[in-house]
Amino acid sequence: MEEHSCKNVNIRHFLQLKDLTKEEILYVLKRASLIKSKFKNYETHMPLHDRTLAMIFEKASTRTRVSFEAGMYQMGGSVINLTNNDSQLGRSEPIEDTAKVISRMVDIVMIRTFDQIRIEKFAKHSRVPVINGLTNEFHPCQILADIFTFLEHRDSIVGKKIAWIGDANNMSYTWVQAAEILGFTLHFSSPADYKMDSSIVGNVSSSYLKQFNDPREACRDVDLVTTDVWTSMGYESENVKRSKAFADWIVDDSMMSMANSDALFMHCLPAHRGEEVTASVIDGPQSVVWDEAENRMHVQKALMEFLILGKL
Ligand code: CP
Ligand code: NVA
Repeated sequence: MEEHSCKNVNIRHFLQLKDLTKEEILYVLKRASLIKSKFKNYETHMPLHDRTLAMIFEKASTRTRVSFEAGMYQMGGSVINLTNNDSQLGRSEPIEDTAKVISRMVDIVMIRTFDQIRIEKFAKHSRVPVINGLTNEFHPCQILADIFTFLEHRDSIVGKKIAWIGDANNMSYTWVQAAEILGFTLHFSSPADYKMDSSIVGNVSSSYLKQFNDPREACRDVDLVTTDVWTSMGYESENVKRSKAFADWIVDDSMMSMANSDALFMHCLPAHRGEEVTASVIDGPQSVVWDEAENRMHVQKALMEFLILGKL
């Protein structure tokens, strides 16, 4: 009997940005541009009309949930949303068993969870592509959207300088992978006790990653300034300590004035005005945060299309 969704050969997962080659990333971004323009023109684009996406959220979400769910419906597919509260994952069913079962019934899975190892275990036992919708270590869908957004506003990202101001977290580690793959330089600045973990970031050439103690220096002459919450999901018990440690890592107008005069500002959201960024910056003329958020949907539609159907 022919099995549905079970072509085990050549399954591609997107567990971190470097699971795609540079050429594949550029392909997905090009498709995202086409898919976005169709969306804006009310043209249907339903290549996944008989496909099902399962989403597993072990952490909260607004953008990831809505962008994947709306995107899959727009492409003609269906969506099933699971959390720990309403699935057997919350009652300790092993992730491997969950993967074996779910991947016999759906065509693609998106997971938001804690340790990267957990999504890797799921992928190892999955018959269908698995997408990382955020782990403690990486947030590759967001960086795809951020690069797409940068390219909508600027010709190229090659050779550009991008400042990361704040925590060594899933976003900054994924920016490092993007710098290596696409060929730009990330200026990273965090408080002394919150430096990057070399076991996650690996050995990166100084052509792609430069570390700064002074956040203002990290912003000097850059093309984009970006930041994120001081306390990521899963680290809430460190909130008070982090608020003190990160007090000088707030992106404000004076920090933005160190960057090129046409520099952009990005934040993956949700943001805390008055903590990692001032309202004047995030709501100001250089900010492209709403484009970033919308573009999650367009790039993820292109990503799901690529992982399920390959290049069209
Ligand atoms: N940026 C992002 O992933 O947002 P959510 O946590 O709302 O999904
Ligand atoms: N670094 C943040 C991103 C939220 C989208 C977190 O992990 O909570």
